Order: sequence, then C-alpha cells, then structure tokens
Amino acid sequence: MSNDINELTDSASAGKATMEKITSLAKRRGFVFQSSEIYGGQSGAWDYGPLGVELKNRIAAVWRKEMTQLQDDIVGLDSAILMHPRVWEASGHVENFTDPLVDCKKCKTRFRSDQIPEDKLAAKICPECGGELTDTRKFNLMFRTSIGAVEEEGNTIYLRPETAQGIYVNYKNIIQSNRMKIPFGIAQIGKAFRNEIVTKNFIFRTCEFEQMEMQFFVKPGTDEQWFNEWKKRRWAFYEKLGVNTNNLRWHQHGKDELAHYAKDAYDIEYLFPMGWKELEGVHNRSDYDLTRHAQFSGKDLQYIEQETNERYTPYIIETSAGLTRTLLMLLCDAYDEETVTEKGSSGNTAEETRTVLRFHPLIAPITVAVLPLMKKDGLAELAQEIKNELREDFSADYDQSGAIGRRYRRQDEAGTPFCVTVDYESKEDNTVTLRFRDSMEQVRVNRTELCARLHEEIKSYKRI
Ligand code: GAP
Repeated sequence: MSNDINELTDSASAGKATMEKITSLAKRRGFVFQSSEIYGGQSGAWDYGPLGVELKNRIAAVWRKEMTQLQDDIVGLDSAILMHPRVWEASGHVENFTDPLVDCKKCKTRFRSDQIPEDKLAAKICPECGGELTDTRKFNLMFRTSIGAVEEEGNTIYLRPETAQGIYVNYKNIIQSNRMKIPFGIAQIGKAFRNEIVTKNFIFRTCEFEQMEMQFFVKPGTDEQWFNEWKKRRWAFYEKLGVNTNNLRWHQHGKDELAHYAKDAYDIEYLFPMGWKELEGVHNRSDYDLTRHAQFSGKDLQYIEQETNERYTPYIIETSAGLTRTLLMLLCDAYDEETVTEKGSSGNTAEETRTVLRFHPLIAPITVAVLPLMKKDGLAELAQEIKNELREDFSADYDQSGAIGRRYRRQDEAGTPFCVTVDYESKEDNTVTLRFRDSMEQVRVNRTELCARLHEEIKSYKRI
C-alpha cells in the first residue's frame, strides 16, 4: 500500500465536533435542513436531505438486521400512528406523560420548571426578563387532534408519543399468527410525536422524531436475567458500529427518575457536544403494560405455556432508541478534522485541514465514489461504466468536476469510505486506484475484483 498525494501529519490536531460545526455541515452537505425554512422555520421539526435520508435509512436497516435477522426469536411490526384513544389511557400517558411548566406573565416565555434555577422558581421570577411566573402546572406532551368530520368530544385522537404501544396491542395477534413462544420479541421503527417545549440542540430533542423500539416478552422471574442480557446486546450494537466507547456510558435511573411503568431502567448515554445525554433506554417494564391493556380492553392477554398449561402475564424488557437521535450521535462521533499535507501540481506541499466523517461503511450514505482523473480521452465514459457496475451492489456516486484532491475532500466530508479513481493506466491494464477515506492510502485493484474487494473491506472494517 502507498500513501496518496496526502499524508497525515498531525493526528493530535484533530478538531472536535461542536454542535455549530455539525449543524452547518449537515445543512451544507444536505444531511438535515430546518423544516419550512423559507417561512422562517418550524421549531421542533427537521427535514432529511439526500445524504440524511440515506444515512437514516441505513441506520434503520442495520438496527433492523441486528434486532430481527440476527435474532432467533424477534419479529417485525409496522403499526399505525393513530391508535384508539383508550390505548393512551391504559398506557398511563393521558395521566402521567407530562412536563411541569411555568409561564412568564410578562414575556410569555414557557419554561420547564425543573430547568430553571430553584431560587427563581421559588420567588416566581422569570429567568429571562424578571417578570412574574405562573404556578407550576402539568403539561401533557401528547399532540391531540380530532378524527372524523365533526370536531367534538369523543373524536379526540392522539399522535403516538412512542411506538411501543402499537407492539403491546398486537402482542396476541403475533403470538397467534406467527406461533411465537415466550421468550420472544417484536421490533418496530416508526415516527413518534411529542409537544416538547425545549427543542434546542439541533435534532437531539424534536417534536417529530423516529424511534427504534423492541419489546421482549419474558416469563416473570426471568426478567432480570433478560434485562441484563439486553443491556449487553445493545451496548455491543454500538461497538459493532465503531462508535468510540469512551463516549458511551450507562446511567441507571434513580427512584425519582423511573417512568410510571418501570421496575428498573438504564440509559445508554453519549457524550454529545453539549454533554452526556440519553441515547437509548433499556427498561424492565414488568407486567404493567399487558395488565393495563387487559384491564382497559377487557381482553385476556395472559400467555399459556403449552407444556405445563401455566398462565401468566409476561414481563416486558424494552430497548428504546431514537433513530434521529442516533443519527445525530453518529454524525458527532464520525466527525473529525485533521491536518494533512497535500502535494500540489507543481510538486510543492501545502498543509490544510480536512474534515472527514468516519462513518462505518455500512451506514455511510455513499459507499463508493468513482472519479475519472480527467474528463477527456474516454476516462469519463470508463468511470461511468464502472459506477454503473458498482451501483448494483453499493450506493455509488460519480464526480468529475474539479481537481482530484478537492473531489476526495468532498467525499471525505460526506463520509464516503471508498473512492475509485480511473486514470490512463486503467484504459491499458483494466486496473483502478482504490482510495481509503480513513488512512488515505491507495491500492491498485483490477476492475474485475473491485466489487468483491469492496464487500471484503466493508465486512472487515475497523475504525482507526
Ligand atoms: N417507549 C419508551 C420510550 O419512549 P423514552 O426514554 O421516552 O422511552 C426513548 O424515549 C428514546 O427515544 C430516547 O432514548 C431518545 O433516543 C428518543 N427520544 C425521546 N424523545 C425524543 C425527542 N423529543 N426527540 C428525539 N428523540 C427522542
């Protein structure tokens, strides 16, 4: 292997991800745009551009594979966002899914009362303008609308605040249709909506977002063992994706933090630019959910063990990750800046900083970019041909504009792990240059072996 025209000089100078840099890169390269931007923007909502939607779909695909294809006993589901309103009474969301809020009577700003200084809250003084604050009241986070032609009492319907309930109400259907035996799981990815008051930090906390949730149904008494098992499996998922584990940690919920349904709960936290924050929750939900749905629906949701005829209400171990929050985490984790020296066409070297997203190739929006060294002499046509071959297996891009170094930089910034350069030698001996994003090393590969080589590189990828 040889180094390309660029050489790493000072890995220690690597720049840190800040939320400003991430937000700006996300917009510049078409990962994420503000919703309704031309109208001044809609807070709490974001649009995923061409690279963002690829990244999101790939994260979802990797999660789905991990949680269904690679497991013996987990099946998928895609339940509706709109559900019977009684679901949310049974789940406890109508009563308990609230934030404590205060409003300023003068500047009208709304605050979560647990996020303003205690002395100001006690004295009822607005931390923004010094005006008088209202008493704390409970504010339900569910979006409420009405269904049908007439907007009246009884037509109320909610946008689901979590995907989990769609799983619980289908638990019996899935046991019957798919002959599932406990222990087994149901996994689903989908949109969720919460009327969040504080939506700063880009896509970290939004009103519309996506979740990747798995509910694992177990026999009471085995729940603690399964809880520990799922903690291990979920941590291993992030390791597999090459996430820097120094930036991950566990946080166990204290008694005052536990949700109304939880017997025990741990968050996997990530060190985001704004500090340690929740990425995913692993919860022991006990038999709360199925007991409540049995009560509210009047249906028997007990499980009967065929061998022993024993009846019980299963306990549920939940793994609940935000898809859009995972995307933000992976952008932050992949972000790197490093100083490299580049040889110009005159042979002189110059130092510059490259921005690179070190995505695992499995989630990179573009897997391989094909670049003709020159547009002329048939190189562009040959490169197009190679791109067309590769796109059967990979997400492949083609770029012929600008100096080759510049094109590499553009791909580095988009997180493309492999570039294939087509030059004059390619016309003669059917070889191309394969360039690796992380090391910037280059190797010569026969065109006929390129596809297999890329598959191998993806399989054996280790982040450096
Ligand atoms: N079913 C359990 C549940 O929904 P949660 O802790 O409220 O638990 C799970 O949410 C995950 O969903 C969080 O760890 C986070 O990744 C994501 N999430 C929650 N609220 C979010 C929001 N407003 N914006 C983006 N992601 C959110």
